[in-house]
Amino acid sequence: MTLRRLPETTVNRIAAGEVIERPASAVKELVENSLDAGARRIEVVLREGGRSLIVLDDDGHGMNAADLSLCIERHATSKLPDDDLMAIHHLGFRGEALPSIGAVARLRIDSRRADADTGWAIQVDGGRVGSPEPSSRARGTRVEVRDLFFATPARLKFLKTDRAEFGATLDMI
Ligand SMILES: Nc1ncnc2c1ncn2[C@@H]1O[C@H](COP(=O)(O)OP(=O)(O)O)[C@@H](O)[C@H]1O
Ligand SMILES: [Mg+2]
Repeated sequence: MTLRRLPETTVNRIAAGEVIERPASAVKELVENSLDAGARRIEVVLREGGRSLIVLDDDGHGMNAADLSLCIERHATSKLPDDDLMAIHHLGFRGEALPSIGAVARLRIDSRRADADTGWAIQVDGGRVGSPEPSSRARGTRVEVRDLFFATPARLKFLKTDRAEFGATLDMI
């Protein structure tokens, strides 16, 4: 037996299990992010109850390239500007949702701030983080989650039928 520190990818996958249990929890986190971003319109697409594809498209304030690189890191948030845990004004503040989804699925985020002249995209594939690249995105943010739990197959076994997962997501919304 050797006592050792787990690699970051493994730590993130374990932590992800606390935040993302099923498609409905992923959609909950993404809808909250869109609301926190001031979105007035949010479009949600699910394929196979969210198992193979979840897309969230919003018209919120969007992110620039630097934001995109940070938002998929654990404990990175724009919602605790003064580190004051007594002053929570958003639905999120822990900075756990996007890195968790990226740790267990194939995540792509396209976003553009209203004041930016170009959009940006970033991808995280089972914890492997890509670099931001230009995107044709108009204002707002589009989050695409493919193959939820492909990186943690044990989780897949706990999912119910597509219909049940779809229903749970609809209830949550
Ligand atoms: N739809 C979105 N529009 C604009 N910014 C977003 C969106 N989703 C996430 N972000 C940014 O990414 C950060 C990290 O998101 P998340 O991992 O859910 O953590 P939290 O919501 O707790 O801050 C947010 O603090 C926010 O700055
Ligand atoms: Mg959030």
